[in-house]
Amino acid sequence: MTRRFAVRQARFGPRRVGYKERAMERIAVCGSGYVGLVTAACLAHMGHDVCAYDNDATKIRSMQRGALPFFEPRLEAVAARERKNGRLHFAGSAREALPGRGIVFIAVGTPVDPSGDADLTYVRQAAREIAQYGEPGLLVVNKSTVPVETADVVMRLLSRLAPQRAFGVASNPEFLREGSAVDDFLHPDRIVIGCDDSTAAQRLRDLYAPLGAPTLVTDTHTAEAIKYAANAFLALKISYANELADYCESFGAAVDRVLEGIGLDRRIGREYFRPGLGFGGSCLPKDLLALAHMARKSGSEPALLDAALAVNARRPAQFVRRIERTLGDLDGAGVAVLGVAFKPLTDDTRESPAIALAGALAAKGAEVRVHDPEVPAAAVRRALPRALVCRNPYAACAGARCVVLATEWPVYATLDWHRIRAAMDAEPVMFDARNALDAASVRSAGIRYEGVGRCAREPVSA
Ligand code: UGA
Repeated sequence: MTRRFAVRQARFGPRRVGYKERAMERIAVCGSGYVGLVTAACLAHMGHDVCAYDNDATKIRSMQRGALPFFEPRLEAVAARERKNGRLHFAGSAREALPGRGIVFIAVGTPVDPSGDADLTYVRQAAREIAQYGEPGLLVVNKSTVPVETADVVMRLLSRLAPQRAFGVASNPEFLREGSAVDDFLHPDRIVIGCDDSTAAQRLRDLYAPLGAPTLVTDTHTAEAIKYAANAFLALKISYANELADYCESFGAAVDRVLEGIGLDRRIGREYFRPGLGFGGSCLPKDLLALAHMARKSGSEPALLDAALAVNARRPAQFVRRIERTLGDLDGAGVAVLGVAFKPLTDDTRESPAIALAGALAAKGAEVRVHDPEVPAAAVRRALPRALVCRNPYAACAGARCVVLATEWPVYATLDWHRIRAAMDAEPVMFDARNALDAASVRSAGIRYEGVGRCAREPVSA
């Protein structure tokens, strides 16, 4: 082995080999939310025998029938194929799922309270059940986003409740995005394994080796910290883009081009630099808050994290003020809001900036009509009781004084702007809160266009 190859092996693990050449593991996955289901389906796709379990009996019954509890591109197809192949199973309890399994992934929720303190009730509950039903030598791998030292908590619980069974514990954070979770799982940028035992670490390396991704093996505390640090960095980048958009608006500069101009520098990069209404979802806001909380608890001052949160929190209200500056009093004004999900390609509305925006508009007396291609109408009505839910974007725009693009679903980029214009009130305005539309097409239909940090001057063509 050459020295270079040896160094690569040590840092990144073995090179990619076909899924089929690897030993099959018998795996259980505790929790059937986004992370749990995607992990279970993708590990089955890689050839392992996987049983996903959850105490929510209704959810399990519907998954056994092939219905997934949420919309996630490709997941239904992968899960259906693996169920048919007999590699993916569902169970309603740890007692059913754990016998005969060598690895169990914990992928349960870890909600945070308003101070950022994470609630580990579900992780502890999962560990207690594993202690009861897990077989000797079972490797317990945590995938939930958890505060640093949680692997120690799990290990202590297991050793106390089942001292004879020599369970292993590892941390293996996930970096899946809703909307592209299956692709993210199967084509990861990196795998992080936190483990204080080299045999267990090698077992996880082997599990992921077919994916051919750089693999970083660390201690458990470091792996747990990497997860928060990654999400917090993405959040910082987005808040920076948003703050820059504000500066650009006042300077009369074009933020998209500024971000392109700096993002072409490889040290900076172009990803996670789209300005707009701010970041939402069940991860970035929560993880930023939790990391700030942990930092404060350990005596540090998380000045950057606090600033990123503050910039983000004010985005929707700031955008409403901007609409008011253009339209004047919103009381009784018809406003169409396109997109309700926290991002495109998901039906998830948790911490959605689009909902914050639509709610604030309704609170100002605007008559809000909303549309989203995937979020079920009942969920929209629960989140926005004062808004009218429409079946298509054209119906949402009927009689509207302005339209706000709040979530950049691809389908909105190809709307018929002349049809929209015909449906709207006089002097129509399009507020593109995600800079996702072609301003010229909107303007050519006779609609005034306003983006985020986009200057009014026409861009010089490339
Ligand atoms: C995020 C991370 O990207 C994943 O790597 C991580 O695994 C996941 O959290 C998690 O912790 O489970 P996710 O919340 O699904 O994934 O969604 P993102 O694609 O990161 O988007 C988050 C929010 O930021 C959305 O509201 C999106 O609209 C917004 N965003 C994203 C921007 O405003 N600008 C951007 O340039 C990118």
